Amino acid sequence: MIKVVILGAGNVATHLFKAFYASEDVTVVQWYNRHLKAIDLHKNKVDVTDNLLELKEADVYIMAVSDDAIESLSEQLPFSQRLVVHTSGSTSLYAIEQKHYRGVFYPLQTFSKNTEVDFGNVPICVEALKKEDLKTLKKLAKAIGSDTHKVNTNQRQALHLAAVFVNNFSNQLYRIAHELTESQGVEFDILKPLIKETAAKIETISPFMAQTGPAKRNDKKTIKRHLKQLKKEEHKAIYTLLTESIKNTHGNN
Ligand SMILES: NC(=O)c1ccc[n+]([C@@H]2O[C@H](COP(=O)([O-])OP(=O)(O)OC[C@H]3O[C@@H](n4cnc5c(N)ncnc54)[C@H](OP(=O)(O)O)[C@@H]3O)[C@@H](O)[C@H]2O)c1
Repeated sequence: MIKVVILGAGNVATHLFKAFYASEDVTVVQWYNRHLKAIDLHKNKVDVTDNLLELKEADVYIMAVSDDAIESLSEQLPFSQRLVVHTSGSTSLYAIEQKHYRGVFYPLQTFSKNTEVDFGNVPICVEALKKEDLKTLKKLAKAIGSDTHKVNTNQRQALHLAAVFVNNFSNQLYRIAHELTESQGVEFDILKPLIKETAAKIETISPFMAQTGPAKRNDKKTIKRHLKQLKKEEHKAIYTLLTESIKNTHGNN
């Protein structure tokens, strides 16, 4: 049985709590947040606190807090030589105060509080300075059905940057597409099979091979028409930048 204390009550902390709570191999001995209100509704399931001085003993302390809060929160923890990890993709392991045994437990997935997450679909990138700590983190991930990947900080930061491209930037493009369809009174939903197929295709062929469209074909007239259709300068700039990038990749410039 792995004893865990969760710190933070945002998107990641909430999903980790649910998954650990459901696991037979993990006990959440306590849940901390600086504002009790966010976790108070779980007090019948777990000991909740907003007081760092009350923190109980555990095998792992998981700080699922904003990146900028990791350093100061780890400094405030009133103990030393226990395993303390953060869940950030881009923050150094060394941001954690050195009095602790330090590690990273980065779930490479997008989490929002009100959408379901199956941890079977969440690869967890783990990092630790001590071998036995790495073993504990791997066991913890396995307990919630996740695969682990042992990565170093540079690799994790590269994955996080790549994740911004595939998730945040793609999602912003969906947002623009939504605006375009709405402006003509046509449903965004009609695009959903295309969105799904775009993601499904790269299961079997590379992103390079999967590319289609006017930029790849260098259909100049269509590109010109698209730019004329776009009303916002920001959208024109994004279209032009991505079109140039595709043309460069496929040798059309
Ligand atoms: N969301 C994702 O998709 C995702 C995916 C992978 C990794 N991550 C990483 O997971 C971590 C948490 O992300 P999130 O999306 O769950 O964040 P979030 O929903 O914004 O929640 C942030 C949490 O941090 C707490 N916090 C902020 N400043 C604090 C401080 N100075 N001291 C103590 N607690 C503080 C907040 O407390 P209050 O409730 O009191 O405001 C809140 O509980 C980040 O490192 C992020 O990079 C996020």
